[in-house]
Amino acid sequence: MGKDVLEGISTNEWQELRDRYVASAVGNGNRHIAEKAEGAIVTDIDGKRYIDFAGAIGVQNVGHRHPRVVEAAKKAMDHYIHPGFNVIMYPSYIELCKRLCEIAPGDFAKKALLLNSGAEAVENAVKIARRYTGRQAVVTFNRAFHGRTNLTMSMTSKVKPYKFGFGPFTSEIYQAPYPYYYRKPEGLSNEAYDQQVIDAFESFFLNTVAPESVACIVMEPVQGEGGFIIPSKRFVSYVRDFCTEHGIVFVADEIQAGFARTGKMFAIENFDVVPDLMTVSKSLAAGFPLSGVVGKANIIDACDIKGSLGGTYCGSPIACAAALAVLDIIEEEHLTERAEKIGSVIEKRALNWKETYAFVGDVRRLGAMAAVEFVQDKKSKTPDKERTGQIVQYANEHGLLLLNAGIKGNCIRFLSPLTITDEQLEEGLDIIEKAIEVVQ
Ligand SMILES: Cc1ncc(COP(=O)(O)O)c(C=O)c1O
Repeated sequence: MGKDVLEGISTNEWQELRDRYVASAVGNGNRHIAEKAEGAIVTDIDGKRYIDFAGAIGVQNVGHRHPRVVEAAKKAMDHYIHPGFNVIMYPSYIELCKRLCEIAPGDFAKKALLLNSGAEAVENAVKIARRYTGRQAVVTFNRAFHGRTNLTMSMTSKVKPYKFGFGPFTSEIYQAPYPYYYRKPEGLSNEAYDQQVIDAFESFFLNTVAPESVACIVMEPVQGEGGFIIPSKRFVSYVRDFCTEHGIVFVADEIQAGFARTGKMFAIENFDVVPDLMTVSKSLAAGFPLSGVVGKANIIDACDIKGSLGGTYCGSPIACAAALAVLDIIEEEHLTERAEKIGSVIEKRALNWKETYAFVGDVRRLGAMAAVEFVQDKKSKTPDKERTGQIVQYANEHGLLLLNAGIKGNCIRFLSPLTITDEQLEEGLDIIEKAIEVVQ
């Protein structure tokens, strides 16, 4: 069937074709077909309009088709599409590495390399840490998500859908405890709970893996797929110090939390901690596939054999041009401040829901990285995946693109563009409020 034949077909017909030709395991939030996306609004081929609280899963911090991103990408295409950095260099790759080194935290010499996807960035951070330390083990955390390749799937927690039936997994991957204040033992203060998690973290290095075998600890400064779980400053700085003490490379995975989402350019900056390496992707290039590893030059350059890092499509010049525009937009449109404002609006509304409904268990946020956790009741805190699913479904059917999160799938997360208008934000929150009323 040629393109002409496919034009003008209905949503239902697309759905049939999708079912027939597209792998079933590829996820879709809903059954609609996008026609256009602009700012925080997506429209489908039936002319239905959606407020976007998903942002392509955290990709659209500057909004869909920001005019400056579109212009930069078009301009880049007037030069070339892909000469291949491994074959002949081009300025935007070098310029973007320079910009990433300048904005990454840390007062030391830095370098960067560019890749395609988030998982690929994480894979490369691990490769670099192994080469630098000469060690093999990798530590991640409970509830972590780092990707779908064999290594990153092994570093990820959630079995279904991410790992089930896909083994054998990579060896030498270990998962350490990570705090979850909403689910701490009853009666324990946050400080006492922090100590409990730190004690468990220390035992982990006695019972499970020796620190001197560990190449890197990879941490999401705020857990994304895990349910937007925010650790304490104390825990994050404890892990940082532990790495320093034991010569372990500390990697902050900023793929979902980075680029102004949490009210800082990078989430790790909220914890006054400087990582050795950071992985970046998603909102970096506003939808063009691009990722990177940035951090200490001496660690990155421990990989000293030419060709040992990189790949055919890594650092596409179109994506690099888009990313350079994104970094300007974040700065010039003050998106870190905007993230805090958006987060406070969400929080205010969500705290009202928490007060009103027994099944709204927790509201948490760092900047605009906000989540609401649904439970059967406030006392038992039993995760309510079913009701969360109903809320997400209602939203998707009533003009709001919304995602869930959490190991038990019982949280909704807010990943709207940071360029969303106040009116659009309120309109999206109204839809969630209605959804909550309907499912109560
Ligand atoms: C924290 C984190 N790391 C890694 C990844 C993997 O990125 P990708 O899907 O681009 O491979 C994700 C994706 O959601 C993520 O949230």
